[in-house]
Amino acid sequence: MLDKLTQIEAVASQALAQVQDEAALEQWRIAHLGRSSPLMQVFSSLGALPREKRPAVGQKANEVKKALEAAFAARSEALRQAALQRALSQERLDVTLPGRPIVRGRLHPDTQILRELYQIFREMGFQIYRSREVETDEYNFQLLNFPVGHPARDMQDTYFLQAEGRGDNPLLLRTHTSPGQIHAMREIAALDPDNPPPVRIILPGMVYRYEQVDARHETQFDQLEGLAVGPNITFSDLKGTLADMARRLFGPRARTRFRASFFPFTEPSAEFDIQCFQCGGKGCAVCGGGWLEIGGSGMVHPVVLRNGGYDPARYTGFAFGFGVQRIAMLKYGIPDIRYFWENDLRFLEQF
Ligand code: FA5
Repeated sequence: MLDKLTQIEAVASQALAQVQDEAALEQWRIAHLGRSSPLMQVFSSLGALPREKRPAVGQKANEVKKALEAAFAARSEALRQAALQRALSQERLDVTLPGRPIVRGRLHPDTQILRELYQIFREMGFQIYRSREVETDEYNFQLLNFPVGHPARDMQDTYFLQAEGRGDNPLLLRTHTSPGQIHAMREIAALDPDNPPPVRIILPGMVYRYEQVDARHETQFDQLEGLAVGPNITFSDLKGTLADMARRLFGPRARTRFRASFFPFTEPSAEFDIQCFQCGGKGCAVCGGGWLEIGGSGMVHPVVLRNGGYDPARYTGFAFGFGVQRIAMLKYGIPDIRYFWENDLRFLEQF
């Protein structure tokens, strides 16, 4: 029996030397120290031995058990240490490495130019008036003196949203910010219908056109509209306002030019251009002929004044509307309007 115990110990020790992980260790424990292990069977068979042999065998069995338990504990600790060493070397954290820089956000160039324009017009006494992007045909065209079927509608290819059951007044995405003129005039005139207060507002926002997209045309873009209505407003006020805007935006030497044009809601009407800041009017790749077209303008048509609640016998007004991206393109030297909504960081990070 004593030999058998020696053998049990030897077999168990050999097996323990092969154990390489926690799972194998647990299996070893069950096999060599568990209830049905050979060692435990020796303990349970002690009673069957002749009385005089029992102390020696019992003592030896206890020694083997203690030895195996100690070997088990040592192996367990060795495995734990090895795992720790492995983790330390593989998952080493170098606290002296520089941290990952936090990327600072910035404002989209469109937001930047809009805010600059708001500031310029705020200093000239204009308030911001916001108007809806989903419009009716009535506001987008009819009240602005584009009757149903008017050929000038062809200049603004329109996304219609809902026509069924609406007769001549379908819902559409506004093609320009000018319908805001009517909303604003009606709201301000309603404050005192017999003596409507003067108006001096800008109307910024997105507009939508079913366009062939190219370097200068997008299907959605921002316009900034301006409207001033009062008892003695003249074309000179319009020219002075836009010339001043150009100087504030592009510097004191910026020059503006007006060219006769047509819009149904202004009379007379003019396109206004800014002299190219790049070449000073000589003509270059940015402008072609020395001048850059910014937008349309004119004196508010009497029909529009009346539709807004202002008597054209007592009030006059001027209005203008330009493409905000076109201004940003000039100011920042952006060659293609499609960059604005592409969300390419290589473009956006330059601003
Ligand atoms: C208008 O939209 C008029 N409502 C402007 C106006 C307001 C005139 C008040 C008189 C009084 P127009 O269609 O020309 O006009 O557009 C005005 C400006 O918007 C253009 O000069 C241009 O700068 C910009 N624009 C027009 N179409 C596009 C487009 N597809 N993509 C980018 N910008 C555009």
